[in-house]
Amino acid sequence: MKVTVVGTGYVGLVTGACLADMGNHVMCLDVDARKIEILNSGGIPIHEPGLDEVVRRNAAAGRLQFTTDIPAAVSHGTIQFIAVGTPPDEDGSADLQYVLAAARNIGRLATDYKLVVDKSTVPVGTADKVKAAIADELARRGLDLAFSVASNPEFLKEGAAVEDFMRPDRIVVGAEDERAVNLMRALYAPFQRTRDKLVVMDLRSAELTKYAANAMLATRISFMNELALLAEKMGADIELVRQGIGSDPRIGYHFLYAGAGYGGSCFPKDVKALIRTAADQGQGLKVLQAVEDANDAQKRVLVDKVVARFGADLNGKRFAIWGLAFKPQTDDMREATSRVVIAELLARGATVSVYDPVAMDEARRIFGDEPRIAYASGPMQAAAGAEALLIVTEWKEFRSPDFEGLKAALKTPVIFDGRNLYEPALVREFGLDYEAIGRPAAVKPAA
Ligand code: UDX
Repeated sequence: MKVTVVGTGYVGLVTGACLADMGNHVMCLDVDARKIEILNSGGIPIHEPGLDEVVRRNAAAGRLQFTTDIPAAVSHGTIQFIAVGTPPDEDGSADLQYVLAAARNIGRLATDYKLVVDKSTVPVGTADKVKAAIADELARRGLDLAFSVASNPEFLKEGAAVEDFMRPDRIVVGAEDERAVNLMRALYAPFQRTRDKLVVMDLRSAELTKYAANAMLATRISFMNELALLAEKMGADIELVRQGIGSDPRIGYHFLYAGAGYGGSCFPKDVKALIRTAADQGQGLKVLQAVEDANDAQKRVLVDKVVARFGADLNGKRFAIWGLAFKPQTDDMREATSRVVIAELLARGATVSVYDPVAMDEARRIFGDEPRIAYASGPMQAAAGAEALLIVTEWKEFRSPDFEGLKAALKTPVIFDGRNLYEPALVREFGLDYEAIGRPAAVKPAA
């Protein structure tokens, strides 16, 4: 099939590349000429495992093209995916200007039937706005052209995007007419494997499904994070509690890890946007508001622990930070806990030496030439001569460090672990103090 994907961010690029891999002819459009230039010269503008290979393979086969040419892109695909950004407005609601501009381009330039599919995470009711924008442009041209609008939210995770796209748990399709459903069914046929993964529904339910999924996952995390704070006070261990409840199939093991707060391009933005949408409808979402408040506080929890030990005035002290990306396998630092941790430490007079396996360039871009931030060449280099160590992202290469070397490197032998990477007893055997999330010193599992 001929497919156009508007927007070459995480979702757009992965969608385009993976659909091309299934034999479709895909044209990816972006207004950012620099991005398109990188893609056309064989590069990838984001760090995402396995994506470069899929892009190169399909570009070489002639099934995947990148362009800034809007008329060519509109003319190419019978199916037009809109996968542009929906950044939060000042009030937390999603900014739809890019989505609606893409829709208008289609209405302005289409000469045959188009199925326009919203892939970006957009507020409930956006598909109707997309429909109205296209109809308006067609009316201006005096054209009575058939088109359909569908909503097909994406559930991929950064760092596992290709794998998630290729092996979806479900494919949610919101649509209003048979033609749209049939086209989507045909497009996704290669992903069906052993069972029908298409969940077909109306447009608004599909749009709400995406927010509901992310809000539910964020709720689990904030719930566990608050319980972890309680566990510390009560002398219980959140890790044991996690295992104790996860074995109930109604609860399950996934997404129950307490830590230093969730970040990324989705959870914080989507939680805010859903709260905002609900408020606009006169409907408070008390639970979700609490989820957001708890997460804001949780991003400061490591610094609270530092302050409890070293006092509020951190002048003259340098802290090592392991991990800057909002999670492993990505260089994405959007809404990353590291940004709050660094800002809070600097505000108290400290300096930091930071290390991340892939997000160093991104950090330099964000922090500029801030003299109080030193960029280390490795984890041990960051720790050398630092007062103490803070772990913010659970990269694999932090999981079995040289504890003896760490003890020698740090001025005060203490690790503040925001991702619960180690067995507390083991760390303490090396003579290091260990402050994790919800894992108090006194508790040991019964033998
Ligand atoms: C998320 C959703 O998982 C995905 O379905 C959706 O399409 C986009 O948003 P992503 O933002 O890539 O994906 O990251 P994810 O792996 O879900 O992690 C989000 C944040 O939650 C990270 O900061 C992570 O550290 C944190 N997290 C996750 C926890 O603190 N505890 C957990 O148990 C799981």
